[in-house]
Amino acid sequence: MKFELMSLPFAEAALEPYISSETIRYHYGKHHAGYVNKLNVLIEGKEYADNPLEYMVKYTNGAVFNNAAQVYNHNFYWLGLSPTNTTCSVALSDMIKRDFGSQEEFKKQFLAKAAALFGSGWVWLVLKNDGKLVVEEFSNADNPLCHNEIPLLTCDVWEHAYYIDYRNGRADYLENWWKLINWKFVSDNLADAQNDPMTGYAQPCNENNEICDYVDKMQENEHTPS
Ligand SMILES: [Fe+2]
Repeated sequence: MKFELMSLPFAEAALEPYISSETIRYHYGKHHAGYVNKLNVLIEGKEYADNPLEYMVKYTNGAVFNNAAQVYNHNFYWLGLSPTNTTCSVALSDMIKRDFGSQEEFKKQFLAKAAALFGSGWVWLVLKNDGKLVVEEFSNADNPLCHNEIPLLTCDVWEHAYYIDYRNGRADYLENWWKLINWKFVSDNLADAQNDPMTGYAQPCNENNEICDYVDKMQENEHTPS
């Protein structure tokens, strides 16, 4: 198996009452795991199979792209949630005020785009190449990496993200999802992006994070005398 399902950064019931353990069991344990499994089957034996997930997202298409991007998007989604209160860095807070007017206006814009997105997709807080923060929505598995933009936060608005808990009440899901945002993760992504725009999209390392394994391997090679 090339790619592994990431470990959730919290317990299955930790996001209740806003996201139930039953939703996590299906969303993470069936849908997210399913994308990982399908991706591994699709890339088996292919010459590009040893590349990191970000490569698959940026340079493949069709079924490989769909499954790779869904793995990437779900990794980003789970890392962006926290069962405990977190706060924005001063830098993030200042940029939100500069580009949206206020935190409230940012929330309003984000949730309005998420509510209005037709069909399945993802809504993202993105750092654009001109240094501005914007909220962007993408259909199906499409994401900011495909458009050379830096993702900072995402919300999954596929029905499988909320149907068990909210049925068709996407707006209620969005209001409660907002309460779970891991602002430290968002702030760290911004800090990484500002320190190094080329790797700013990288997720924090954990033991199941393939991009970190890839970077570790590159660094090892650099430090191995030839
Ligand atoms: Fe999902």
